[in-house]
Amino acid sequence: MAAGPVAGTLLLRTATAADVDFILAAERLPGYERLVAQWSREQHQAALERDDTRYLLAAHAGQPPGGFALLQPLHDTHEGAKLRRIAVVRPGEGFGRALLTAVIDWVFESTDNERLWLDVFTHNERARRVYRAAGLQEDGLLRGAYRLPDGSRADRVIMSVLRQEWRER
Ligand SMILES: CC(C)(COP(=O)(O)OP(=O)(O)OC[C@H]1O[C@@H](n2cnc3c(N)ncnc32)[C@H](O)[C@@H]1OP(=O)(O)O)[C@@H](O)C(=O)NCCC(=O)NCCS
Repeated sequence: MAAGPVAGTLLLRTATAADVDFILAAERLPGYERLVAQWSREQHQAALERDDTRYLLAAHAGQPPGGFALLQPLHDTHEGAKLRRIAVVRPGEGFGRALLTAVIDWVFESTDNERLWLDVFTHNERARRVYRAAGLQEDGLLRGAYRLPDGSRADRVIMSVLRQEWRER
């Protein structure tokens, strides 16, 4: 299941322990604390060791990484793979859309999952737009289902794409 070259010049590769500094920095950009969960170094290091987890890093050829995706669990017979986290270091420049497309392709080409899913805060309009554009559909709403760092509560939307939909895209 090695990650290889993807469309255009965007390259995906599996992250290693040497990439934890990048991952920590990417999920801690200003404002991201309201958009994405943030793990400690120890949590990422432990997750990297797990068989049910895959971190994918993306970069344009010859460039440093521009973002990462965390798949956990990588496989589930019923629910499929969960995209637990995705973050780019220069938002709004099209990198996230390309990264997401590459991750979806990787999941359906490199694993036998029938479904890829995630949850996203309702207030994260940028991410929801990118997910919809990549073919994910909104499955349902989890009301008040997350406590943000400032103590307020956020709604989350479950989104998914099925293998059949990916095949017919
Ligand atoms: C979500 C994320 C990965 C998307 O990557 P990105 O590189 O910023 O996305 P793109 O530039 O490819 O596309 C952004 C789209 O949202 C639109 N957009 C930008 N800001 C927006 C906003 N505030 N509200 C709604 N749409 C917005 C852009 O116009 C673009 O749509 P278009 O391609 O139809 O014009 C990235 O923004 C990110 O890392 N965000 C912080 C972490 C995060 O939210 N992760 C997801 C958690 S579920």
